[in-house]
Amino acid sequence: MLMAFSTWQEIDARLARSRAIVVPIGSNEQHGPTGLLGTDWLCPEIIAHRASKASDILVAPTFNIGMAQHHLGFPGTISLRPSTFQAAIGDWMGSLAGCGFDRIYFLNGHGGNTNSIEAAFSEIYAKFSFGGHRAPFLLKLRNWWDLPGVMALAKNLFPTGHGSHATPSEIAITQAAYPEMVKSVAYAPQIAPEGPIYDALDFRARFPDGRIGSDPGLATLEKGCQLIDAAVRGLVEDLGTFVAEASPRPPSSVD
Ligand code: NI
Repeated sequence: MLMAFSTWQEIDARLARSRAIVVPIGSNEQHGPTGLLGTDWLCPEIIAHRASKASDILVAPTFNIGMAQHHLGFPGTISLRPSTFQAAIGDWMGSLAGCGFDRIYFLNGHGGNTNSIEAAFSEIYAKFSFGGHRAPFLLKLRNWWDLPGVMALAKNLFPTGHGSHATPSEIAITQAAYPEMVKSVAYAPQIAPEGPIYDALDFRARFPDGRIGSDPGLATLEKGCQLIDAAVRGLVEDLGTFVAEASPRPPSSVD
């Protein structure tokens, strides 16, 4: 079930039986010479939308702009600064928690988002902790490549040239979902350099075409299908564990 294609009455009825929701979250940023700018929000969206068809999962609209200051040296990158991003996550959370969601699962597609998302979670929890109250909801962050079974498959599919940005894994997932958007562009070297991340101009100087350690030409539609299938299975399992194990209800009247 997709929130965007639901009415408020349908969401209201669903809340009576399930208070869990998945929020795909990512970034709109350069992904090398062959990667789509939307790669980091498309991947979690593709996986979450497929999972919603395979299982009874509600998916929120995709939070498609993240913390990508280091990619701002490349046209097409749109970034929030960490403080803006964290504030926006707080407002999304407040909106979802306010209407009754109590298991809010962020499926993330951009490594640069993770610190800010975790900091945003801590800010939200701190409001309750300093007040001596339990939060009436639980929050979870999972990167799609950390879903059960996904990284093992990626290593198997791409034993060399996987890298950490504009990876063949993420490119393959977008190819599988949007085959009409596959780009064919020559690039060199075949495997991009590795290195640290600082500011945007430093990034562009170190990584001239935007890739880090990757050879995205290894991506194929078929490998993308395998990765999507593994990620969908992993998401259904991981969300199920989160919903079943988490217990936000206070055990006594201390609340
Ligand atoms: Ni990416």
